[in-house]
Amino acid sequence: MTKDSSNQMWGGRFAAGPDAIMEAINASIGFDQRMAAQDIAGSRAHAAMLGATGILTDSDVSAIREGLLTVLSEIDGGTFAFSTALEDIHMNVEARLKDIIGEPAGRLHTGRSRNDQVATDFKLWVRDQIDAAISGLEALMRALLAQAEAGAEWVMPGFTHLQTAQPVTWGHHMMAYVEMFGRDKSRFEDARRRMNESPLGAAALAGTSFPIDRHMTAEALGFDRPAANSLDAVSDRDFALEFLAAASICAMHLSRFAEELVIWSSAQFRFVTLSDRFSTGSSIMPQKKNPDAAELIRAKIGRIFGANVALMTVMKGLPLAYSKDMQEDKEQVFDAADNLMLALAAMEGMVKDMSANRESLEAAAGSGFSTATDLADWLVRALGMPFRDAHHVTGTLVAMAEARGCDLPDLSLDDMQSVHGAITEDVFCVLGVHNSVASRMSYGGTSPVRVREQIARWKDAL
Ligand code: ARG
Repeated sequence: MTKDSSNQMWGGRFAAGPDAIMEAINASIGFDQRMAAQDIAGSRAHAAMLGATGILTDSDVSAIREGLLTVLSEIDGGTFAFSTALEDIHMNVEARLKDIIGEPAGRLHTGRSRNDQVATDFKLWVRDQIDAAISGLEALMRALLAQAEAGAEWVMPGFTHLQTAQPVTWGHHMMAYVEMFGRDKSRFEDARRRMNESPLGAAALAGTSFPIDRHMTAEALGFDRPAANSLDAVSDRDFALEFLAAASICAMHLSRFAEELVIWSSAQFRFVTLSDRFSTGSSIMPQKKNPDAAELIRAKIGRIFGANVALMTVMKGLPLAYSKDMQEDKEQVFDAADNLMLALAAMEGMVKDMSANRESLEAAAGSGFSTATDLADWLVRALGMPFRDAHHVTGTLVAMAEARGCDLPDLSLDDMQSVHGAITEDVFCVLGVHNSVASRMSYGGTSPVRVREQIARWKDAL
């Protein structure tokens, strides 16, 4: 029997209980209670296996499995009293099971340890988040596809250095994000495939002398196979790191898109109008409609990438196998996952609701000499000029237009011929933005024909 004040799970060799500060630094129940469902699923699979292998009697196993369901319903119903003295979710569940079913509860921990238990619970939790991230990305991609389809041939300025470069299509711009979020989705899918091995049965670090069946528990929990090395199984947190790495890149993509929405919704750009549902007002300036959701999404990368760096730093230098440092893995991942899902949902909502201002996009598409490259290309094609010379002639014409305060199509044929005598009326065909985008037919280019092909491909894929 343990002394009154020492821990009922491991108090055998202890004469005194922990200091209050020790308890405070040691306990994880304040946050790992989020893994209650995973913990109970893991225990149910473990108990069933202990029964099937004859390690426990059927009556013990059925008492355990029934009791675990009662514990789960207490937790789900909010009536469960979590205890800090019991440190973590694993011991809280087991202690409550003992209250409910008595002695058989003590047999549940046969052939396992909290080390393989926590690795299993956390993996199951992260796996659910990977699935949620994939669904969130798919929903966002569908919203982007709808925008791309509606405006496959709308023209807008394409930028480099945030300076007008060449006209592109709205559909093409939306589809650029579909590509980015598609890569994010495949990163999560990839991480899921790699992580889907069960740590359960690795026990403390060395495996166990009981004749357990790790394949059975792996299958029951939806894993592809048991992890092959018990030391690695209890000390591996790559799955959480890969989740955070994929989440960081995804959050970076969300942040870039959010930044564009902030710029585009400004009075100076007016490229898009965000819905009231995804905007806020100002308490002092009545005219204001602020893109707060986009700004917050832009900022989320900070905490998500922060979590990635934090967990990398926790794990670096840890000797095999489990160390208590690893308890510091969860809060960061919980926070990163919560915020990634929120950011994905908010972005999907904004994209679904936003309306692109076709006229503003088109007006901006032609400004800033955006068809200068088309003019240079025409000189090469029609006059057989080397591109470098064509670049120079075009530059001279741009300077002329700039000096007159007009755009390239506003120059007369005489103006053009004063710079190069062989230019003909024909040149004006390529100076229109619609002709410009339609001509960009190379694979992956901005022509509406190419954009529609990509939309069809992605619709199939989703
Ligand atoms: N609360 C612990 C964690 O989150 C569970 C594992 C504890 N194992 C141990 N040997 N103390 O990592």
